Amino acid sequence: MNKIAILCSGGDVSGMNPAIKHFVEYCLQNRAKPYFVFDGYEGLIDDNIVKAHYSDVAGIINRGGTKIGSARSKRFMKSKYRAIAKKNLEKRGIDKLIVLGGDGSFRGIEKFHKETGISFAGVPSTIDNDITGTDYCLGVDTALGVINDALDSIRDTASSFKRAFVIEVMGRDCGFLALVSALTSGAEMCLIPEKSYDLDKFEIEFKKQKKDGRRYFIAVVSEGIKQSSQEISDWFEKKIGVESRVTTLGHIQRGGNPTTRDRLMAYKFITKAIDGLLAGKEDSIICYNQNEFNYKSIDEITNKTYKLDSELLRLAHNIL
Ligand code: F6P
Repeated sequence: MNKIAILCSGGDVSGMNPAIKHFVEYCLQNRAKPYFVFDGYEGLIDDNIVKAHYSDVAGIINRGGTKIGSARSKRFMKSKYRAIAKKNLEKRGIDKLIVLGGDGSFRGIEKFHKETGISFAGVPSTIDNDITGTDYCLGVDTALGVINDALDSIRDTASSFKRAFVIEVMGRDCGFLALVSALTSGAEMCLIPEKSYDLDKFEIEFKKQKKDGRRYFIAVVSEGIKQSSQEISDWFEKKIGVESRVTTLGHIQRGGNPTTRDRLMAYKFITKAIDGLLAGKEDSIICYNQNEFNYKSIDEITNKTYKLDSELLRLAHNIL
């Protein structure tokens, strides 16, 4: 009988719980035995691996976070710990793994696969949406919803004062979350790591707008830009002459009930992952491109740097 384990690695996303639920259900429908690995690669090393049942996944479809925990494991980078992980899987006869995570997690599991022959399927799961080769990563839609709700609320208070609001969003070195949320919330400024910006250009424009009656400014800045959010806020006070406040959205961006889109995408990613493993695919990343799911090799997704969609950049050109 096929035995398949699932684990979450790196930053959690809303969408992992629906994925875990469908994993158990779809394994059982296909006469495969599902297993949970708790706390990512740490659980593989510490033998925190248990058989999963239908009842374990009842009532989790609407919950953010992950029922089986996640971790950023430093130990899994060392071969002596990967050897322990191998033994823990082998003693249960598990030779297939599904990893929900980002490209760092996938590089780790690829190494493990080469050393042990244990097959894996990677499901791109990161709010940063920074994995090359897939147009969508699980959790992005929910994170954007959380960010836009926050930006809408900030706009309410911003419109009551003559102020600037600098809102820092996550994304590590990728400006996707900042770009999309700035566009769809009507922000006046968006600063992202991928594009150099010219504060002098904004100064001329904002001074003119202020003279024409604009009361407030909303600037969405990505955590990955070189300047700090406080520096941008100080710039508003000094150069534009408006009082300014900084809001760092932080980890609330990783929480919240998964949206309908993330629940459905979780189901589809997992179906494709299990189908691939049962068909004998040994080392694939499940990617979503032009409305279709496909299997890609780790090299296809890690050998190039992620590039922001040029159409999005064009749409946002006047706020960048
Ligand atoms: O990769 C997801 C992410 O939320 C990034 O956007 C952020 O930079 C990082 O994780 C935060 O990591 P941690 O939760 O370890 O502080």
